[in-house]
Amino acid sequence: MKILSVVGARPNFMKIAPLMREMRKHPAIESVLVHTGQHYDVRMAGRFFQDLDIPDPDVCLEVGSGSHAYQTAEVMKRLEPVIERERPDLVAVVGDVNSTMAAALAAVKLLIPVAHIEAGLRSFDRTMPEEINRVVTDAVADFLFVTEESGVQNLLAEGVDQNKIFLVGNVMIDSLEASRRLWSRSDIRAKLGLTAREYGVVTLHRPSNVDHPETLRRILDALKKIGQSLPIIFPIHPRTRKTLEHSGAVGDGLRLDASAVTANAVYGLDPLGYLDFIALVAGARLVLTDSGGLQEETTALGIPCLTIRENTERPVTVTHGTNRLVGASPDKIVYETERVLASPHPKPSPPPLWDGHASERIVSILLRHLDPQGGAPTLPPIPRSLAGFPASQPPKILSGPTESDND
Ligand code: UD1
Repeated sequence: MKILSVVGARPNFMKIAPLMREMRKHPAIESVLVHTGQHYDVRMAGRFFQDLDIPDPDVCLEVGSGSHAYQTAEVMKRLEPVIERERPDLVAVVGDVNSTMAAALAAVKLLIPVAHIEAGLRSFDRTMPEEINRVVTDAVADFLFVTEESGVQNLLAEGVDQNKIFLVGNVMIDSLEASRRLWSRSDIRAKLGLTAREYGVVTLHRPSNVDHPETLRRILDALKKIGQSLPIIFPIHPRTRKTLEHSGAVGDGLRLDASAVTANAVYGLDPLGYLDFIALVAGARLVLTDSGGLQEETTALGIPCLTIRENTERPVTVTHGTNRLVGASPDKIVYETERVLASPHPKPSPPPLWDGHASERIVSILLRHLDPQGGAPTLPPIPRSLAGFPASQPPKILSGPTESDND
């Protein structure tokens, strides 16, 4: 049985790594890895292959940067002949980036079944490019592997056949757990001169937060205020760095490319590799972010997370985990940070099935369906839906400092 897996951008790499490892354990599976090259430089792609021990891709499409239509079209054009040549039994795509949607479309049009890992997540915000990618990918996928109960409900509400939906847990957490020994040994805190629980970590890259200099400047003003009482480490995404130079925010309170933390301030760094970044997050007092994956990682690690967005497609991180939606208003960001700093540090409480074994479940299901004679390993039955686990409502953005604070 041949499975062709496609990755393209940074958040894909931690999702494919545990699947590649699991597939290697089964001689019945012949695995082909395609890297679209949506992310191409060492800081955004190359280092992640090393850190996560992902085998070198069999095919690199070298698509690079461009508009959404350009990236999507180039991935489809360049992947089509690869699929025709390889004739896989299945194409596996992960996450919600342009490469995910493009690869799913290229495969179904050649009548190759598609598995979508991380299916069903919905922010219900169609201004987000990722939401479009999620909706389109799920509409054409044959196997929909879901991380949390809300995803099952969303897919059922969209009329997806329930026999295609599998609640299996979260492959991101598989990566986090599998590499725990390695990231625990990272010396990033010592290198930066940081003490555990005495700093915050920030990431920002959503177009709605970082593409307009004025919006980014207002968020950075809030971070600088927080940075007066707690050093803030801010690995800067290339998209964000482009706008930063025009935002007028660099200077007082925002230091770029300092080699170590010497005072309370916001420290902008280059993007970090996976192991150093997770080590930094695991030792933080809190995280402020607009990343989807980081909402999940902080929930698994028990680190308070303030999400600089109005919505999340990962509601279990709010209902079950450490995540709170604060939006992009500077006053609200500062107010909610002060609340976190005044509260005791939480204990990790991972959502159901976020146990480091999601990729085993996925591969076992694929073997059972695609190679029924092959003697697929028997795992405990997988619930299609978790009985007694409340179907989540889209979480509301937190009330601001002017409203009642007694909850
Ligand atoms: C993409 C994904 C987003 C994901 C994010 C993680 C889509 C629609 N968006 O957004 O879901 O959370 O990746 O990083 O697929 N660049 C580099 N080096 C690289 C890659 C990009 O410098 O290796 C620069 C380019 O100038 C590019 C910009 O970053 O214009 C943005 O890259 P792009 O792939 O368009 O989207 P992201 O914002 O990274």
